[in-house]
Amino acid sequence: MSRRKIIAGNWKMNMLPNEAMEFITRLSECTYEAKSEIVLCVPYTDLFYSLLTAQNTKIKIGAQNMHWEETGAYTGEVSGKMLKVINVEYVIIGHSERRQYFAETDETVNKKVKSAFKYNLKPIVCVGETLEQKEEGKTNEVITNQTKLALEGLSTEQVKNVIIAYEPIWAIGTGKTATSEDANNSIKEIRNEIKNIYGEEVANVVSILYGGSVKASNAKELFETSDIDGALVGGASLKVEEFKNIIMSAE
Ligand code: PGA
Repeated sequence: MSRRKIIAGNWKMNMLPNEAMEFITRLSECTYEAKSEIVLCVPYTDLFYSLLTAQNTKIKIGAQNMHWEETGAYTGEVSGKMLKVINVEYVIIGHSERRQYFAETDETVNKKVKSAFKYNLKPIVCVGETLEQKEEGKTNEVITNQTKLALEGLSTEQVKNVIIAYEPIWAIGTGKTATSEDANNSIKEIRNEIKNIYGEEVANVVSILYGGSVKASNAKELFETSDIDGALVGGASLKVEEFKNIIMSAE
């Protein structure tokens, strides 16, 4: 089993259903030969339309969050089971915006990851340091700790199927990208942490993506490194041409 290349878009709170359908139709027309896994993580209200439009294309659909319980009195929440029954395949868990604005913690991230596996969803788990932590030289400590806590209690088979996205918070939506060397080194640290806990065989197959101001102009350099297995793309995933060019950079 070799590592998968994954290019995932995170639309955040953008795109109406008609825009989503048009985007997916246009993107599918120029990516039918792509070898990478292409994923679009869309708002809940776009899921159904996106799934229908993406049928028989290379494009897979994901959600941006989920609750860890299956059902219950959790107003406003959506469970892994609800996502699975409509055929959603992926789910972002622990994005820094959720950690920052919606009280997501390492503990809730871990519960959600476990629940995602229960419903056969592929979790894209986000980790990353703040600018302050970076300046204090704590990057490695923060990202390895977040990784360890997110994966706690998973089987080795499950860890092999986790997708991790290293997203330095200072690089998200700011136009500042980590250098490909720094991003690769951080990702190596994460892989090393996985190796320490779950062994080399597991660490070698986990796909670890970089995220934070990825665009067509810097994607190729990032993808040419030893350990970056793709990207989680925010702003640049909202434009078909730009996102297509990022996908092409990974071919
Ligand atoms: P960005 O967002 O590409 O707009 O920086 C990345 C993300 O938040 O996943």
